[in-house]
Amino acid sequence: MENVVPLTSIAEIAEVIGRCQSIAELESLRVHWLGKKGILTQALQGLAKLDPEERKRHGAQLNSWKAQFLELLDQRRHLIEAALLEQKLIRETLDISLPGRNRGRGSLHPVRQTLDWIEGYFSGLGFEVADGPELEDDFHNFTALNIPEEHPARAMHDTFYLEDGRVLRTHTSPVQIRYLESHQPPLRMIATGRVYRKDSDLTHTPMFHQVEGLFLDENASFADLRGLLADFLQNFFDRSDLQVRFRPSYFPFTEPSAEVDVACVLCNGTGCRVCKATGWLEVLGCGMVHPAVLTMAGVDQEKFSGFAFGMGIERLTMLRLGIPDLRLFFESDLRFLRQFS
Ligand code: DAH
Repeated sequence: MENVVPLTSIAEIAEVIGRCQSIAELESLRVHWLGKKGILTQALQGLAKLDPEERKRHGAQLNSWKAQFLELLDQRRHLIEAALLEQKLIRETLDISLPGRNRGRGSLHPVRQTLDWIEGYFSGLGFEVADGPELEDDFHNFTALNIPEEHPARAMHDTFYLEDGRVLRTHTSPVQIRYLESHQPPLRMIATGRVYRKDSDLTHTPMFHQVEGLFLDENASFADLRGLLADFLQNFFDRSDLQVRFRPSYFPFTEPSAEVDVACVLCNGTGCRVCKATGWLEVLGCGMVHPAVLTMAGVDQEKFSGFAFGMGIERLTMLRLGIPDLRLFFESDLRFLRQFS
């Protein structure tokens, strides 16, 4: 038999099968022994050449090996499949002790929150929310606001100029002009947006936000302006007894003009670092719309008068929320932003 099949015992083949780690290995072993040209297959075919006596003895032996071989293959296959299944189950286990995956929840930037609040407040008083371009022409940003070329008031703004003569708007006041081009009084308009100035230090950034208001009606007076803005500031800072004062000032597009201060909301007017020990905080500019602006806009000044106001949003937001540093608004630091969600 040794010359027919190079195998001393079934134990030897059992050992080879026992080392198989995959179904593919088992299969190639099966082909090696029992495929068309397999060793056992050939041995079985060779039986035909033997005489009856030998054929009987060897035939019994070969068939017994074949049966045992198939049985061993089968057992090994089951083991491998079970191990594969086990691995798969381990891989796919749901670890219910793992922390859940949260969906990050965003929130509005504090500056956006202030803009929304102010738009909502004035909308409630019948003001229409308007809009204008950030890339503005010289006419709307300056000339139509009574700031002609060579006028020293242009030096109040450190302007970013484009090569074609346009500017990054230095304030939201040009939206007043654009609104007047398409609306006739009586009117109430509020506009919010970005403005730009060549300015960068602890308390100034090259881009910031402003809100602009315009009110034109029959008999609109400075007293109306005063009442409207005092109410607005008391609501904004959520203090009905907040002291508000109007200080004479100068803007080219209003006459008379005023700057508005509130009693320092951090020290209640007693004097601190933020109000520079004055007890007052300047929060906005305003005035009666200048006749030159109304003339340029073609408003009937026999009938209508009105007022305008403008304010910086970052500053108002800092005062309302007690934020100490302007730069925090622009650093996108989540530890800062999350405090206002
Ligand atoms: N445009 C002014 C600025 O940027 C703010 C301002 C002052 C707006 C008085 C007004 C106003 O509408 O009446 O400094």
